[in-house]
Amino acid sequence: MSSPDRAWTGQAPGRVNLIGEHVDYLGGVVLPAAVNRFTTVRGEPANDWSIDSEVPGGLPYARAVGEELGASPQAFRVTSDVPPGSGLSSSAALLVATAAGLRPDLDGREAALTCQRAEQRATGVQVGVMDQFAAALGRQGHALLLDCGTLDYRLVPFHDDLVLAVIDSGIHRALVDTPYNQRRQEAESGMPKRRRHVESEIERVHAFALALEAGDRGALGELLKASHRSLRDDFEVSTPAVDRLVERAWSVPGCLGARLMGAGFGGSVLALLEAGAEDRVRRALPELIVRFCKTADGAYVW
Ligand code: GLA
Repeated sequence: MSSPDRAWTGQAPGRVNLIGEHVDYLGGVVLPAAVNRFTTVRGEPANDWSIDSEVPGGLPYARAVGEELGASPQAFRVTSDVPPGSGLSSSAALLVATAAGLRPDLDGREAALTCQRAEQRATGVQVGVMDQFAAALGRQGHALLLDCGTLDYRLVPFHDDLVLAVIDSGIHRALVDTPYNQRRQEAESGMPKRRRHVESEIERVHAFALALEAGDRGALGELLKASHRSLRDDFEVSTPAVDRLVERAWSVPGCLGARLMGAGFGGSVLALLEAGAEDRVRRALPELIVRFCKTADGAYVW
C-alpha cells in the first residue's frame, strides 16, 4: 500500500542549525537540532490535491511529498507554530510531517531523502538534506552531527544551560528568489572563496562538536563568530543589515556568539546564550522578534 485509505495525522518539528552552513549539498558535515515548534498535517484521500492552512504556499510541498510516495490525491489540513520565514525551516517541518502521516513506517533517513527530493521538485531549488534530516531524526537534548555524504550521524548532547535564540532579521525571502542555486554551483565548480568557506566550515563543525562535549563555551562562541565571517566574506550570503544584527548580538553579555543561520540573504540569526541572558538579548534587540528554542524529537524518533 503506498498511501493510507483513510484520515491520517503527522507531526514534525522545526530546526536550528548550530553550525555547518552551505556544506550539506557538498557532502559536508553539519550540526542541526530539531526544536520545540511543530507542524501538524492531517490528511485524507480526496478527488484532487488541496490544502487548508493559515500559511499560503504549502500545497506544492505537501503534494510533492505525496507524489514522491506514490500516494493518491489528498486533502491536507495544516496547523503550525513554526513561523514561516523565521529560519526554523517551516518547509522541512511541513514536508516531514506530511511524510510521517502518510508513511510512518518509513526509515527516517529514507523519509528525509524523500522530503529533500520533494522540496527540490516543488521549488526547483537544489537544497541539501540537512533540514529534512533534522526534522525527521533530531533528538531532544541533542544536536545531530550529520555527515551529509554518507548520512551517518552521531548524537551530541546539548544541555539546557545553553539557550538557542533565533533572531528574526525581518528580511524574508523565499529560497527560490535567492542565488542559492548559483552559490551551490559556484562551490561545486571549485571557486576558491566558496571552497575556502566550505573547507573551513567543515573544520569548524568538528571543532564545535568537540567544544560542546567539552563544555568549552569560549570556543563555541569563537567558532560561531568565525562561521559568520566566513559566510559573509567567502560565501557572500549575508547582507549589511544581518551583519549589523549579528554584531549587536555579539556585544550582549551572556551571548557566546551568533551567526547568520540557514540559506542567508536575510532570514535569521542564531545566537547561543548562557541561560539567564534571554532578557538582556530581548532588551538589546527590542525591535526584533527573538524566539528561544529547546531541542526536541524528530518525527521519526519513537
Ligand atoms: C537551506 C537548505 C539547506 C542548507 C541551508 C544552508 O536551509 O534547505 O539544505 O543548504 O540552506 O546551510
